[in-house]
Amino acid sequence: MIQIKSKEDIEQQRVSALKVGDTLAEVSKYIKPGVTTAYLDKIAEQYILDMGGIPTFKGYCGYPASLCISINEVVVHGIPGKREIKEGDIVSIDCGVTYNGWVGDSAYTFALKGVSEEVSQLLKVTKQSLYRGIDKCKVGQRVGDLSNCIQTYCEEFGYGVVRELCGHGVGRQMHEDPSVPNYGKKGTGPKFREGMVIAIEPMITLGNKEVLFEADRWTCRTVDYSPAAHFEHDVAITADGPDILSSFDVIEQTIKTNINLEQI
Ligand code: MF3
Ligand code: CO
Repeated sequence: MIQIKSKEDIEQQRVSALKVGDTLAEVSKYIKPGVTTAYLDKIAEQYILDMGGIPTFKGYCGYPASLCISINEVVVHGIPGKREIKEGDIVSIDCGVTYNGWVGDSAYTFALKGVSEEVSQLLKVTKQSLYRGIDKCKVGQRVGDLSNCIQTYCEEFGYGVVRELCGHGVGRQMHEDPSVPNYGKKGTGPKFREGMVIAIEPMITLGNKEVLFEADRWTCRTVDYSPAAHFEHDVAITADGPDILSSFDVIEQTIKTNINLEQI
């Protein structure tokens, strides 16, 4: 069942979603070659707790950390650990914050200095596909219109659109109805109504769209080891059109101040 949120609910959810952006910005200050993903997770967890929030992911279906950190060929759900970030890597960081009972869920893919032009374009296009999808979040349009928009845009560049994981409704729970695939047919799926809030999260690969789950049952990587990008926003459907509750503004300001990161 699709939950409909009041204007007050949406304002509360915005607070949570903005805290996710603040957390990702904080974490991004520490991204540099040689740092482990476990270290970045510690930074995030402490930051979330200091804000009075709860790391939504930790303990979710047994997930052991506060962030998902997915490097290069890892598409999503990389578990923080001993892997070190290297020059030229791309690092997708997905974060959830529960605050006052409302969940924010957002992700950004960072590029280390030395990233190739080809991979840099993958990031640009994936982020652009997210905003194109968001433009479809209007009353009367359908989820399939958004899905189709993301798919056709990314496939124009020859990229792979991952099928195994989707966006979702988000609210008091991290995963609510409807499912929001990044591929599909126009005119299909649930109709957008005022008060719906969805997390849109294109997962796009430079190569083949096929992915597999590693033995830890979380880590999702491309079968061909091609790099993958992931960007995620929480979006409310309002009478005036889409309202993006999360934000990349603080993240992108912070990227400018980290000499180890490339601006995309
Ligand atoms: N953004 C991801 C999702 O919507 C985050 C979930 S990771 C989990 O599925 F570990 F918490 F499951
Ligand atoms: Co999500």
